[in-house]
This record gives sequence, structure tokens and C-alpha cells, in this order.
Amino acid sequence: MIKMTYREWISNHTEETEAIGAELAEVLKPSDFVAMFGDLGAGKTAFVRGAVKRLSPGAFVQSPTYTIVNEYPGKIPVYHFDMYRIDDEDSLYSIGYYDYLENGGICFAEWCEKIKPFLPESFYAVVIRKSIENPDLRILRIYEKCTPDDTDFIS
Ligand SMILES: Nc1ncnc2c1ncn2[C@@H]1O[C@H](COP(=O)(O)OP(=O)(O)OP(=O)(O)O)[C@@H](O)[C@H]1O
Ligand SMILES: [Mg+2]
Repeated sequence: MIKMTYREWISNHTEETEAIGAELAEVLKPSDFVAMFGDLGAGKTAFVRGAVKRLSPGAFVQSPTYTIVNEYPGKIPVYHFDMYRIDDEDSLYSIGYYDYLENGGICFAEWCEKIKPFLPESFYAVVIRKSIENPDLRILRIYEKCTPDDTDFIS
């Protein structure tokens, strides 16, 4: 098995998770896709909020649980998906997922566990794990140039 390389961070506060998101935002380019993995309350939205502070200052960021996708304007527009309620590829078509992938914005998607086979050819994967002992501690791993086949290894 080829081991994927990743960078790892420990976060002790919500703000630290936001700061790690902001750091990734520095290197993101048009059409990049950031696939987020992690349980309820892991900090996926906190991470996206930090990134969006850089990419779309002033935007209000929350999990797009009901809308499925939020759009934030910017020099490069940002699309923020919540895949929690997505059960099949038809639902992805109906939210315009494949159109979003092609229009040059930067995409962040929460709950990519739900859409593993439908992820783009190459993407960043952000995996956030909660600590059992410390309610504020998070372990974040960022993998670059992932493919859909790598996701079994990731989570
Ligand atoms: N180190 C930390 N990093 C991120 N969030 C933290 C941390 N410590 C505590 N928290 C808290 O955990 C929660 C994370 O919520 P957030 O909405 O970002 O999670 P999520 O992964 O998007 O959840 P969901 O799957 O419900 O969308 C917040 O209440 C936040 O304050
Ligand atoms: Mg969320």
C-alpha cells in the first residue's frame, strides 16, 4: 500500500481550527476542491469559516444543512456544501454539484464520507478527529492531491 503523506495539526480552540483553515486558504487556487471529513461537531464549519475569512471577507458562514450549498462572493467565489443529506448521485445532480465543480470557484464540502465515489479527480482532504479525553482538542490532517480511491485509506 502506498502511504499518503499529510500535514498534521493539533487544535486546542475553535479559533485555532479557523486559523488552520485560513492558512490553507492562502494556497488555494480557482477550481480547487477541499473535501472535509469528520463527525458531528468535529469543527468542519469552523475550518471553512477561517478559510472564508480570507477568501470572502465579511461573509457569514454556517453549515449549509438545509440549503446544501452556500455561496460566498470574492475574487474567487467560494461554494460551501454540506453533504450530510446527500444519499445518491441524483441528489448531487439536482443541487448542481457537477456544474459548481466546473465554474472556477473554490469548493469546500462537509461530510464527504457521503460522496466518496463522486469526489473530483484531485482534491485536498481535511480530516478532523475529536479527542476522547479533551472536549476542545482536535487533530487535523490535510492531504494534498487526493483521488477518490485514496478516501478509503483516509477515513
Ligand atoms: N479545537 C476546536 N476546533 C473546532 N471546534 C471546536 C474546538 N473546540 C471546541 N470546538 C467546538 O466544536 C464545535 C464545532 O462545530 P462545527 O459546526 O465547526 O462542527 P462541524 O464539524 O461543522 O459539525 P456538523 O457536522 O454538525 O456540521 C463548535 O461548537 C466549537 O466551538
Ligand atoms: Mg458543519
